[in-house]
Amino acid sequence: MDYKTIMCDVLVVGAGGAGCRAAIEAAEHNLDVIMLSKELLGKAHTAMAEGGYNVSLGNVDPDDNPETHFKDTIVGGNYLNHQKLAEVLVNQAAQRIFDLEDMGAVFDRTPEGKIAQRPFGKQTWRRTAYASDRTGSEIMVTLTEGIRKTSVRVFDEVFATKLLVTDGTISGVCAVDLKYGDFLVFRAKSVVMATGGAGRIFKVTSNAQLDVGDGYGMAYEAGCEMIDMEMVQFHPTGMVKPESAKGRLVTEAVRGEGGILFNNKGERFMNRYYPEVMELAGRDQVARSIMTEVLEGRGSPDGGVYLSIAHLPKSIVDFRLESMVEQFEDAGVDIRNEPMQVSPTAHHFMGGIRIDEHAGTTIPGLYAAGECTGGVHGGNRLGGNALADTQVFGAISGENAAKFAKNKKHLGVNREEIVKEFERLEAMLNRKEGISPSDARSELTELMWEKVQIFRKEDDMQYAVKELRRIEEEVVPNIKVDVPVKRFNPGWHQAIEFAHMVTTARMVAEAAAMRKGSRGAHFRVDADPKDKGYYNIVIRKGKNGKMHLQKEDLRITQITPP
Ligand code: FUM
Repeated sequence: MDYKTIMCDVLVVGAGGAGCRAAIEAAEHNLDVIMLSKELLGKAHTAMAEGGYNVSLGNVDPDDNPETHFKDTIVGGNYLNHQKLAEVLVNQAAQRIFDLEDMGAVFDRTPEGKIAQRPFGKQTWRRTAYASDRTGSEIMVTLTEGIRKTSVRVFDEVFATKLLVTDGTISGVCAVDLKYGDFLVFRAKSVVMATGGAGRIFKVTSNAQLDVGDGYGMAYEAGCEMIDMEMVQFHPTGMVKPESAKGRLVTEAVRGEGGILFNNKGERFMNRYYPEVMELAGRDQVARSIMTEVLEGRGSPDGGVYLSIAHLPKSIVDFRLESMVEQFEDAGVDIRNEPMQVSPTAHHFMGGIRIDEHAGTTIPGLYAAGECTGGVHGGNRLGGNALADTQVFGAISGENAAKFAKNKKHLGVNREEIVKEFERLEAMLNRKEGISPSDARSELTELMWEKVQIFRKEDDMQYAVKELRRIEEEVVPNIKVDVPVKRFNPGWHQAIEFAHMVTTARMVAEAAAMRKGSRGAHFRVDADPKDKGYYNIVIRKGKNGKMHLQKEDLRITQITPP
């Protein structure tokens, strides 16, 4: 088995907002830093974030401050957040947005020339800084420019498949160069996971193609503790039509700027559910309200509800929602005059790799930042807190990974383990018979969408768990790629991703089955009223190789539930 070994001090896996920020920070420490990008640099999912970045600057509402941001984050998170992490987020969000400005990011301004801030759901004040409705894109352009000014070595289109751990400490990763099909081993003194989320395990999602959960799968297999995996955010407003764009994000900024939701009777139905805040209730709350309208027969013909901005001034629509206008124009809808059809779409994982306030995981030398981590957002993330999270914990993870790597030697790696991993990947190409990755993927994503969605119940959870265990045992070892070539072969890439998707889906479903009450994004129609849900679910891979789940309280509470 041929493979090439590449040495570095700090390795960053993932090249979205968190990965780029971590790499930039680590490079400040005069170390040899490598960043792996599964796509071409700049194409990460962060570029698809639209509405904004939460930071309590008080530029529009002067009474805002980090304490209020903290409280909103905890209340929004249904008191499940690791509150120390949330505190770090709100306290450092300002410095990190100023870093972005220093690197050249241009955010929209108030008439006085300060960073403008818009209202988002469940926030006391207008707090969400933005660049029209393409904030993530502005941030990614800035960060990729920033990376080019450093010594960071970027490996484009390289897919990490396995973390290497030596005597309990991180030592590197196995990876595939997707362009040439070469097997690579990166040996590093510390590693940062910044691999994003896993919306793609659901049939309908706002997420980029690459968000399949490989970070969750790798971390779990390596022995990391994972938390709150059942907490998946369904963004209330995804596109419904055309089919090819189903699930694509319709930014919360549409509602923040004054967009209204109504049903097929013309009723502004949020009045029935959350009259005090209407369209700016929490994402979990708006998503459930929309689904209730649809399930009770008051939806649009294509299975959504209507969202209208036709009443808003042209200046707001043209300057603050310009991508939305274009996105719907492509679908033949002029949103300046006609309503959009929208329905919920799998959007964000609140759960993930357990970290502490230094972005350290439960494996020494392994750090993590951004959506692949759990704890910051509790049971429901506030819109706008994710971009801030990428920058705050990106910088923290980069700094601490650099400090860990300083003055250390590379650990040895186990050649047998590496060869076994690459043989596993190669076997998918050589199988004579088996299941095609695209069929396997459809089965998985439909199962998750049908059974582990917004409204959950016991028999669906048990069915999903049973099916996922079967898929793990029977389908994963029998994945067969149609075209047996290693050079840029999307079928092979999908096949490699599949095992991570199944592990991730299992963690979501098993934790959802364990949590019998409703809390945050996890809503049980058959909720046990005795289960108030003030606990986290920790998942570990047991010594027997089995998935082990346990309820623990990791919240470190400053604000207590009412
Ligand atoms: O709706 C949005 O623009 C999404 C923002 C977010 O998830 O933070």
